[in-house]
Parts: sequence; structure tokens; C-alpha cells
Amino acid sequence: MSTYAVPPRVSEGTSSPVSSMEGWRAAWMAARNDPDGFWLPETRERIAWDQPPTVGLAGDFHDIADERISWFADGQLNVTRSCLDRHLETRGDKVAILWEGDEPGDVRRITYRELHAEVCRAASALRELGVQKGERVIIYMGMVPEAAIAMLACARLGAVHSVVFGGFSAEALKDRIRDCAAEVVITQDEGMRGGKTIPLKATCDEAVIGERSVRKVLVYRRTGVHVAWDAERDVWWHDVVPTQSADLDAVSCGAEDPLFVLYTSGSTGRPKGLVHSCGGYITWASYTHEIVFDLREDDVYACVADVGWITGHTYIVYGPLANGATTLMFESTPLYPDSGRYWDVVQRHGVTIFYTAPTAIRALAACGDEHVTRYDRSSLRVLGTVGEPINPDAWVWYFDVVGEKRCTVVDTWWQTETGGICITPIAPATPTKPGSASLPNPAIVPVLLDDQSRVIVGPGEGRLCLAQPWPGIARTVWGDHARYVSTYFSTFPGYYFTGDGCRRDADGYHWITGRVDDVLNVSGHRMGTAEFEAVLMSIDAIGEAGVVGYPHDLKGQGVYAYVVLQSDAGEVTDQELEAIIRAACRTQIGAHARVDLVQVVPGLPKTRSGKVMRRILRKVAEGPPDQLGDVSTLADPSVVEAIVAGAKR
Ligand code: WTA
Repeated sequence: MSTYAVPPRVSEGTSSPVSSMEGWRAAWMAARNDPDGFWLPETRERIAWDQPPTVGLAGDFHDIADERISWFADGQLNVTRSCLDRHLETRGDKVAILWEGDEPGDVRRITYRELHAEVCRAASALRELGVQKGERVIIYMGMVPEAAIAMLACARLGAVHSVVFGGFSAEALKDRIRDCAAEVVITQDEGMRGGKTIPLKATCDEAVIGERSVRKVLVYRRTGVHVAWDAERDVWWHDVVPTQSADLDAVSCGAEDPLFVLYTSGSTGRPKGLVHSCGGYITWASYTHEIVFDLREDDVYACVADVGWITGHTYIVYGPLANGATTLMFESTPLYPDSGRYWDVVQRHGVTIFYTAPTAIRALAACGDEHVTRYDRSSLRVLGTVGEPINPDAWVWYFDVVGEKRCTVVDTWWQTETGGICITPIAPATPTKPGSASLPNPAIVPVLLDDQSRVIVGPGEGRLCLAQPWPGIARTVWGDHARYVSTYFSTFPGYYFTGDGCRRDADGYHWITGRVDDVLNVSGHRMGTAEFEAVLMSIDAIGEAGVVGYPHDLKGQGVYAYVVLQSDAGEVTDQELEAIIRAACRTQIGAHARVDLVQVVPGLPKTRSGKVMRRILRKVAEGPPDQLGDVSTLADPSVVEAIVAGAKR
């Protein structure tokens, strides 16, 4: 495998604190050996503290059930002072949010001064609606600047936001509202995406029925469509926000106060609300955003994720704004109105740093190079990818075709739980290998463990764990610390277990192999097999169900469902069954949750003690299996024969 040296242009003129391999190595060693000595000065300089912290890290991964991890615990801050106020003097007229709407050229430019004023107004309006420090506000919106403004307005008040991706269904939204007992929901009349509208307000109306915690629904008008209205509960953004004062003092928060809750899927049960803290999170967001992308003052930085996911939180909103960058928000899709849209955006706005997901790269590569090459991409300097393993072919296409072999590709591995990028090349420093996330950021101490929980030394493949706390780690699961402890710290006591498999090569480079647990990653969307199984089990005709992922050329993973019909299910064709299943997933999870393949089986492969052997289900879904491994413990081997015979792949 060839190594790509850092293209020469990239290392010129950087101001990043980590801009060479020597710099990276020194920072990494310092952060590992003396976390407080490294992070206290770093955060005091980087972040606008009301009261700078004097303590760094407290707690460790061994005692996490009794003592939560904390960073900078005696510090006081409001993250919006770092993201807004302190830029006013030097960057007041700099564009903070550069918005590209669904229709090409529908653009809004919001300066730091304007953003500060708008966040203050929105915060005042929320305060009038009764929102107080510590209360939860759900944000269910599309990619409009007001989504970022809403997040920051909550943060300004010390309220805890929880953004729910606009693709989630009413039921999924309801679950999240209920789990965190949200007082206010912020939504919009409709979302716009790829020329289509998304009925956000209508979905929200359905979700809040019977949710007594919700006092108010604040509605931003995006399309102007008529929406149903509850005069007691619903409030238009344009009625209550613009009239407010453009200055509102930020509420000072403790470093460990929650900044936001973000729900994500795990191996079992319902999605978990991961809690991120104010002080550690903003430090990690700012630091990683600057060093990984080699951020410079005149950059036009574009992360085309959605604010509903962690990538949008950290690398559209908090990291770039804390760093005073111009951050682009993109409402549309890579394929609208055609597959040249990203590069049209790059050309028109002079984007210098571009951050997307492998699934988009694969889809665009399949559309042909001419959709890329007809646009001028000479402004680009750094190309990022995140969300799933990137196959070397897609990496090379990104590097060769999009980046004209001039730009550095940073394959950034991280998770909702980690708050920010953990394993990645540092743009101006790290030689890259196509398909490898390469080396850990300072504060990240990756360890590979084998099945017997032994640490693998040198090259090898195992389960990826992180051995030391870093500032951006999620502190707990909302309302359920025991679940946090058992999910992440019980498999390998003393370590944070990521759920991913990883190979380390002789150069110490990391190659993420994908999830080793029951979490699916479909087009970079993280979903739990257990969530799908719960939906399937809610269908009358289905008695039992097992859901697994399988390799999919474009989406990374597809969703394969094995279902056992109820004996009294009656006649149902495969097509009817698929339609029923897809509709149920859409209403109970969301439009992005689609089962690709359905196989009706006489039974699930179970051990004599009744445990489903998921290994067999995975193996068959992967394609014709040469061998299934040990099946001697199966209660009924004939089930496996039937499964193999009827396999859909
Ligand atoms: C996967 C997204 C390989 C991984 C930021 C992880 C990746 C899960 C990469 C987290 C990458 C993310 N290479 N796999 N560069 N980035 N993943 O919480 O399986 O939505 O555990 O956070 O995505 O997904 P999440």
C-alpha cells in the first residue's frame, strides 16, 4: 500500500499548534503523560472562561461507576462567549455562517455580529417562553441557520439542547422528548431537501400529543406552507424573536454542566441520550477542529453533515464557531439538482476545507468524473471524511479526482460518544495511507484488545478501546449512568470500549474495520439492530425477527432481516411483507431506516439454551458462506439449512 506524503502546498503558512510530525509526537506524549499540564493551559488560552479552571482531569475509567469523569471542574463559562462574543472585536464583520439553501445560489451570509445578535434575540425569546438553565429543549429542524441559532440560544441560557435529526419519525421524536422531559420543542413549518419538502411541524404535532412536559413549540417559517396551529402551545419564531434585544448576557455555567444531549443507537435497547459537558466538549471541539483541518483565518470551511448528528454539532457549529471560522451550512443533497452540486458549492464559495462521508464519495464516484471536473476546485486544500470506513478506492478517487492530488485527505475516526475526532491524520503533518484513519490525536490512547482481553502489542487486529479520558468524552447517559457504565466500560474493565474493530499496521497506523457489536452503519447513519427487531416484532404477522448488516457497495452496510411468520399469519407474499416492514420502520424510526432484504425463515438459529446465534445470521447475509463455523450447539440444525437455501444474497 503506497503512502501519500503531505502535498507540499499544505504545510506552508499554517498557524496550527500541531503542524509537523515532531509537533504531533511531542503533543501526544505530553497529553498522555501529563494531561493536566497539557490541557489546562490549552483550554485557558483557547476558550473564553468566565472563571478559568485550576483543576484538569478527575476520575478514571476504573471507578467510573462511582465517580464521573470531569475536566476543568472548577471553571465557569458559557460556550457562546467563545463562539460569539469574543469574536466581535476582531471578526465582527466576518461571515460566521454561510448558508447554501436547497436551490443552488439561495445563499445567506450571517456575520459574527449578526449571529451574536440573533442568538441573543432567540435566547431572550426562549427565556420569555420560560426556558431556564438546565431545562431541555428539543430542536427538530432542517439545515437552516436558525437550527444553529437555536442550539446557541439554548447554550446562552445554560439550557440543554437535544437536536433530533429531521428524518426521524413522530414516534422516534416522541421517545426523545419523553426521555429527556423536554419543556420546549423548536421546529419549522417544513424542511427543504433535494427539491422536496419535509413536514416537520406536522410530525412534531403528532409527537407532542400527550407529552405533558412540552409547554411550548417554537416554529420557524421556512416554506410558508399552511400548518395546523395550537394557539396555546405554538409560537411563531418571527413573532417572538425579532422584537427582542440584540444583547443578552450569557448565563455562566459550570464546566461540567451539560451542554447538550444527543441520542444515538447502541447494541441493545432504545437509543441513549449521551450527555456532553460545556467545558471539556468545547475545548475538544475547538482543538481538534483547528489541528486536524489545519484551520486558517481566511478558510471557507464546509462540513456537509446534518446538525442532527454529532458531526454537525462539533464540526458545523461548535468547533468552527469557537475558532472564529466561516462555516458553511448546506441544506441540500449531493445529488440535487445533479451530482455536481458539492463542487458547484465549492466553486461558488471558494471552499478550502471540505468534510463529507464515504457514502457520498462512493455515490458521486459512481456518477462519473465529469460532474466534478467541470467545476473549479482550486480553492480546496483539505478533504475530510467521517462516519464509516472509507474503502481505498473511494479514498483514491477523492484524492485524485476531487483533490487533484493536491489536497490532504483526512479520514477522521470518532463517535457521538467521543465528542470530536480521535484517530485521524493531522492535515499538515501526517503522511496518509488510503483507507487508514492513521494516528491518534493528543489525549487519545488507543489500545487493541483480543478476545481474552489481552492487550495486543505491535501490529495486529482487535477491539478498539481508548485507555485514557480526553476532554470531549460524553460524561453519562441522560438519566441512566448505570447504562453508560455497562455499555462502555464493562466489556473491558478499565477501558472505554468503542464497539469498533481495528487493525494496526507495522507503522502504528489504525485501520478501522467497522462495528463488532450489533450497531449498523448504513450510509453513515448509525442504527441498532435491536431497534429494527423491535419494529419487526410489533408487526402482527411476525413472530420472531433477527436483523443484521451486510456489505453494501454504496451504503457501506445494508439491512438484512430474517423473519419467522406467526403460524396464523395467513397468506402474505414477499412483496407485501417487505412493504409492511418498510412502512413500519418508516413510522417507528424514520425514512432513513430501510430494510433492504427480507428473508422468511422457518426459525432462527438458536443454541439449546435458546440464544440466537447471530454469527450465523451475519455469515449468511454476507453472501454464500463457505463454512458456518461450529454449529454443533444448535438446537435444530435443519433451520440453518433452510436459511442458507433461501438466502437473499
Ligand atoms: C463509524 C460519527 C471508520 C464507527 C462521527 C464509529 C468510522 C461510528 C469513521 C460512530 C471512520 C466513524 N472510519 N469508521 N473515519 N468514523 N466511523 O456516533 O463505526 O454517528 O463507531 O459518529 O461510525 O458513529 P456516530
